[in-house]
Amino acid sequence: MTAPKLRGAILISGRGSNMTALLQQAQHDPAFPVDFTVVISDKVEAPGLSAAAQAGLKAHALTGCRDGRARTVWEAELNALLDAEAIDLVCLAGFMRLLSPDFVDAWEGRILNIHPSLLPAYPGLDAQAQALDDGATEAGCTVHVVTAEMDAGPVLGQAKVPVFPADSVDELSARILVEEHRLYPQCVAQYARGSIVSKEQAHAG
Ligand code: GRF
Repeated sequence: MTAPKLRGAILISGRGSNMTALLQQAQHDPAFPVDFTVVISDKVEAPGLSAAAQAGLKAHALTGCRDGRARTVWEAELNALLDAEAIDLVCLAGFMRLLSPDFVDAWEGRILNIHPSLLPAYPGLDAQAQALDDGATEAGCTVHVVTAEMDAGPVLGQAKVPVFPADSVDELSARILVEEHRLYPQCVAQYARGSIVSKEQAHAG
């Protein structure tokens, strides 16, 4: 008997190309183990939000953090949205806010992220520019489990690309992004099949 699909949420802040890659894979592969039902952005103007709505998902802008409200209030609202959707797995896809240790602990092992470097190299912002500034000859992307420490959780997969001497940040980012779109759905599927059960099953013991 095939396991029931997990219910997935995607958190974004912008363009949402990794979100689209996940949604397309989930749509095209009947065996994909996650059914994404909701996309949440911390920026109302994120282009990915309208793409999510067009794809038939619930699309929410949850902008409280930027309105100066406390992060705990914002995270309580996020948690309520995720619980209302009975979400089992959260995929960060270009989500530019740090989640608090309390939030991450409450979702332990159920939040994944994609980062445009070969972690542990170049965590944080502007990873591609960091690689170029450092004279790296190889770059890439990493899918990892989110833990309280930024960009430091267990690695699920990596893909490498070459760095060419004349690369601009945009050129290198585009080369990495092609690999991101391939790697993220693959790692999400592997992780969902192997490492987690639905929250419902988990609570049933
Ligand atoms: C990607 O490079 C991702 O690795 C990083 O932010 C970028 C988001 O791009 N965390 P998109 O919004 O998925 O197009």
